[in-house]
Amino acid sequence: MLSNKIKDITPSYTIGISSKVKELERQGVNIINLSIGEPDFFTPDAAKSQAIDAIKENKTKYDLVPGVLELRKSIQEKLQVENNVHYDIQEIVVSNGAKHAITNTLIALLNYEDEVIIPKPYWVSYPEMVKLVGGIPVFIDTKKENNFKVTVEEIEKVITSKTKMIFISNPSNPTGVVYTKEELESIVKLCLHHKIYILSDEIYEKICYSSQFTSIASISTEAKEITVTINGLSKSASMTGWRIGYTASSLVLAKAISTVQGHLVSHPSTISQWAAVSALNHCKDDMRQMVNTYKVRRDITDNALQQIDGIIFVRPEGAFYFFIDISSLRNSLPWENSFSVAFSDALLNDEKVAVVPGVAFGMDDYIRISYACDTESLIEGIKRLKRFVEKQGVKK
Ligand SMILES: Cc1ncc(COP(=O)(O)O)c(C=O)c1O
Repeated sequence: MLSNKIKDITPSYTIGISSKVKELERQGVNIINLSIGEPDFFTPDAAKSQAIDAIKENKTKYDLVPGVLELRKSIQEKLQVENNVHYDIQEIVVSNGAKHAITNTLIALLNYEDEVIIPKPYWVSYPEMVKLVGGIPVFIDTKKENNFKVTVEEIEKVITSKTKMIFISNPSNPTGVVYTKEELESIVKLCLHHKIYILSDEIYEKICYSSQFTSIASISTEAKEITVTINGLSKSASMTGWRIGYTASSLVLAKAISTVQGHLVSHPSTISQWAAVSALNHCKDDMRQMVNTYKVRRDITDNALQQIDGIIFVRPEGAFYFFIDISSLRNSLPWENSFSVAFSDALLNDEKVAVVPGVAFGMDDYIRISYACDTESLIEGIKRLKRFVEKQGVKK
């Protein structure tokens, strides 16, 4: 009964974990949840008030498909001031979260069986999104020695006549690594040479502890032409449930994205869009405070994880995750299909700590933990992880 397309789609691991956690909590078990991919802060007050005002002022009707004009103006200004790249208003399309912005882009760009390069580890939804629109994900195994950043040599090896696009998640979910300007420049050069589009997922841009974040489109006019910038308010302003994301792209592509969006959903909730106007214009201090808190937690996590023998990780410079190599424990517990799932299940059963198995990101020797949770839970969760790892012992 179901389409072949849907039969090929892997259900979300992260949603699977949330369901397990919810079921255990329902049974009265106290879980430390380090699997969560969303900020633990409330949405800033100014954004909430603006939404309430929007309702009172009856800004509750259909609006323009690519988004409320005031919001697109605010995004345009943000991109200019913070990212040093100029987009016309018509080149910006506001969507239901970054997820929707990415899917719109894929629908607008991909032909059946076009190939999309996805460096591993990847954000869980990338391959499934590509498959859902009839494209073919082509993976690259990045190396820990390169901080999981994809290199030009690695990209060059997988390019074929069918290659249409490459995904770059920067700062990366799940590794938290941040590309330097030079690294991005060399990727742009290669993509220009081979006429490949870049989908630059910058949703974690603000949660960046080094000063080196570069928006790919800002590199040059040519870079901007082949780049689709993806961003939104979910992570930076703790507005996950409001569902506001956007694309900034060439005019031709923006028009196509708008056409797709017009037929599928018209536009995101006008109330959320007004809240986003306020988030962009009046919540910069709130955002800075959140990032400062994440940085403190990043350092706490870094120190605590260093005390655990048998695991390895690259210190993240952005986002709110640690991607942890647990391969030295491969022979320490029984598993069949996936080691990282067996490890995560055992950790949840034995120590009541939820993490995401690396297989969800295409790398089964890893787990991802999130520090978007209160410090007390974080410290207790890592203490339990340490106890669990020590109990397994490292058997080579
Ligand atoms: C790398 C990455 N891109 C996009 C998204 C989707 O963001 P949104 O909630 O705005 O759809 C996420 C959410 O987890 C993410 O981690």
